[in-house]
Amino acid sequence: MDRRVATTDMGKEILSRIDQLAALTETPGSLTRTYLTPCHREAANLVLGWMSAAGMDASVDPVGNVVGRYEGNRPGLPALILGSHLDTVRDAGKFDGMLGVIGAIACVDALNRAGERFDFAIEVVGFGDEEGVRFQSTLFGSRALAGTLEAAVLESRDADGVRLADALRAFGLDPARIDAAARRPEQVLAYVELHIEQGPVLEAEGLPVGVVTSIAGATRLDVRLKGEPGHAGTVPMAMRRDALAAAADAILAVERHCTATAGLVGTVGRIEALPGTVNVIPGDVRFSIDIRAEQDPLRHRAVEAVTNAIAAIGERRGVCPTVRKTHDAPSRVCAPWLMEQLAEAVRGEGLAVRRLPSGAGHDAMAMADLTDVGMLFVRCERGISHAPAESITAEDAGTAARVLLRFIRSFTPTQERS
Ligand code: GLV
Ligand code: MN
Ligand code: MN
Repeated sequence: MDRRVATTDMGKEILSRIDQLAALTETPGSLTRTYLTPCHREAANLVLGWMSAAGMDASVDPVGNVVGRYEGNRPGLPALILGSHLDTVRDAGKFDGMLGVIGAIACVDALNRAGERFDFAIEVVGFGDEEGVRFQSTLFGSRALAGTLEAAVLESRDADGVRLADALRAFGLDPARIDAAARRPEQVLAYVELHIEQGPVLEAEGLPVGVVTSIAGATRLDVRLKGEPGHAGTVPMAMRRDALAAAADAILAVERHCTATAGLVGTVGRIEALPGTVNVIPGDVRFSIDIRAEQDPLRHRAVEAVTNAIAAIGERRGVCPTVRKTHDAPSRVCAPWLMEQLAEAVRGEGLAVRRLPSGAGHDAMAMADLTDVGMLFVRCERGISHAPAESITAEDAGTAARVLLRFIRSFTPTQERS
């Protein structure tokens, strides 16, 4: 079979599995799959089956990550960990996260069929919670593996008031055992994640894959503004304490600050105004802020500036602000030795090597506390992601899997951490 056809066939198989996962959704007609829901359980079961069929010992770990292990030349060797996440944002695309899990399983399947084993084990992880949508617990799954979970996160509640600890119990897990998901550094050789680019660079340059150099840091804030509800027809404009008008002011302050400073991005993606009635002045508003930058000091200064701006708006408009940090992840640099081995695998497939930073967050950020990390990006159509139009071709999926397979076959661990 010619190589292009074989690559596309491998890609088609990957895309078909991604389609099967996309059918597991909380919102019929669109894709939303959040942490510890029945859909998460169904996705975990599907992935467990694929892992077993690919020759891995597969199980669900103490925080709901799906973990498959393919032993090396003898049992118990340290592992090269591959993977990404199985949860999604609301009204998501189907490739963000899923490609990294399914692509890695396809590689292990190919090795298993060929009877190839190495002086290291391979593990594939489908992390349960990267997006943090349900509990604002971003990177919970990978932080559990890295051993950096903070117990306080167990007290986070979803929109229905369910505690994360209780959701773990409902999933059949024991919140007292979450520490058991953690790995020791000597058990792990590296973490490598395959992911769609989620941006337009590779497509613009006509390249199917790219080697990631770094991942931007991110801070997320939960802001609450308490004003005073009142009658929309009777309270004079000058006497209002309108929390939603104050929020509009604050949102524009985020946009102004992040637009004025190169290298910063800031987004308000969620807002709720209560009581949410056409003829009532909103008295209680909550919204999220997401601020990112490749340079941590730039992000820290932006968070401070935005927090100060919200305080000033609160003062001026007579609303009382509370700002709570729900997520803070420093920027990460991919390990040079992994970048080089990934680049070598890209070259080995006859492709040009393009190195590029990631503006999006990834499980690799949390895994970097445990081990060296590397990432391979795959071109996606028009750079669209976190939206239903997210799309990649079967040929690119196959090409990425071939690069990853080549990388695994010649993977040479180093003793020193970068
Ligand atoms: C994860 O997808 C993020 O970057 O928000
Ligand atoms: Mn995402
Ligand atoms: Mn992702």
